[in-house]
Amino acid sequence: MQIVLTGGAGFIGSHVLERLLALEHRVVVMDDFNTYYDPQFKRRNIAQALKNPAVQLAEGDVSNLAFVKDVIGGTRPDMIIHLAARAGVRPSVKDPFLYQRVNVEGTLNILESARMAGVRKITFASTSSVYGLNTKVPFSETDPIFHTISPYAATKLAGEALCRAYRHLHGMDIVALRFFSVYGPRGRPDMAIYHFTERILRNLPIPVYGDGSAERDYTYVDDIVQGVVATTRREFGFEIINLGESQTTSLSDVIALIERSLGKKAKIDRQPEQPGDVPRTFADISKAQRLLDYQPRTKVGVGIPKFVTWYQSERANRS
Ligand SMILES: NC(=O)c1ccc[n+]([C@@H]2O[C@H](COP(=O)([O-])OP(=O)(O)OC[C@H]3O[C@@H](n4cnc5c(N)ncnc54)[C@H](O)[C@@H]3O)[C@@H](O)[C@H]2O)c1
Repeated sequence: MQIVLTGGAGFIGSHVLERLLALEHRVVVMDDFNTYYDPQFKRRNIAQALKNPAVQLAEGDVSNLAFVKDVIGGTRPDMIIHLAARAGVRPSVKDPFLYQRVNVEGTLNILESARMAGVRKITFASTSSVYGLNTKVPFSETDPIFHTISPYAATKLAGEALCRAYRHLHGMDIVALRFFSVYGPRGRPDMAIYHFTERILRNLPIPVYGDGSAERDYTYVDDIVQGVVATTRREFGFEIINLGESQTTSLSDVIALIERSLGKKAKIDRQPEQPGDVPRTFADISKAQRLLDYQPRTKVGVGIPKFVTWYQSERANRS
């Protein structure tokens, strides 16, 4: 298949890219290498993959319609995997307009350019954040989602709604995947597991918002890749599908796992809870198991030590 992969230089995108290449797909990576975190990290993420003649790089911004039209119209891929987005919850509170532009208009640009180029198949990266303050656990795709509490979540929900509309209007084949707190090698430096590992190693205090009891369903990146790649294999119509580990871990337990992996204690800097943060995420993955044959394999007890080993060999001396 010829695939356009947006956000392909990022954390999840670069892992998806490698898996697609291993499966002998041809991939156009669309990424703007913005400075949300060090763009050199992103360049390194894909340096090896770019040596493969099956990969092309289209450097630019998904919120620029002319650019997106050009790449998609010029490539006419079999499908688009749309991962490019502004991905942080807290920064979205500070700059909601940027999130609106990239995550909503950017997604609309992808959908509209796909329609114009006759591309029918799209996989869209959504998020567990759309469940917001949902109290029913585990979170299921049929739960009502009227409790979004951050601009980030609202923009992803808008992205899902646009995908649904394009399915309805133009018969496109679209899957929106709701990822649950993804971690692993090449992780985003702003995310808790990465940030804590970095600070503990530097003897710096780690900011813990709330009392440490907030729970997340942490998902190892290889498991997410398995789910994303499964969407390339058949038609779905329109589906929203959770991708998580279906196991929750408290922030305190995550810190304990990092401490054990590093052989070093954290200095805790206790902070008030942050507006926009949700108290708990927990994925019901029965739909992913049914439709994608999804079987997450790496629990946090294995995944966090693997991440820490990667961090120590790759990033500790560079970041
Ligand atoms: N990491 C997680 O825990 C998580 C959880 C839920 C959903 N997601 C979603 O998964 C996707 C990938 O997230 P990630 O964690 O790999 O983040 P990331 O920031 O590492 O990757 C996103 C990539 O998109 C690119 N990008 C951002 N804005 C762009 C723009 N305007 N034009 C072109 N490229 C742009 C970035 O340069 C980056 O390489 C995002 O859509 C994110 O919202 C991630």
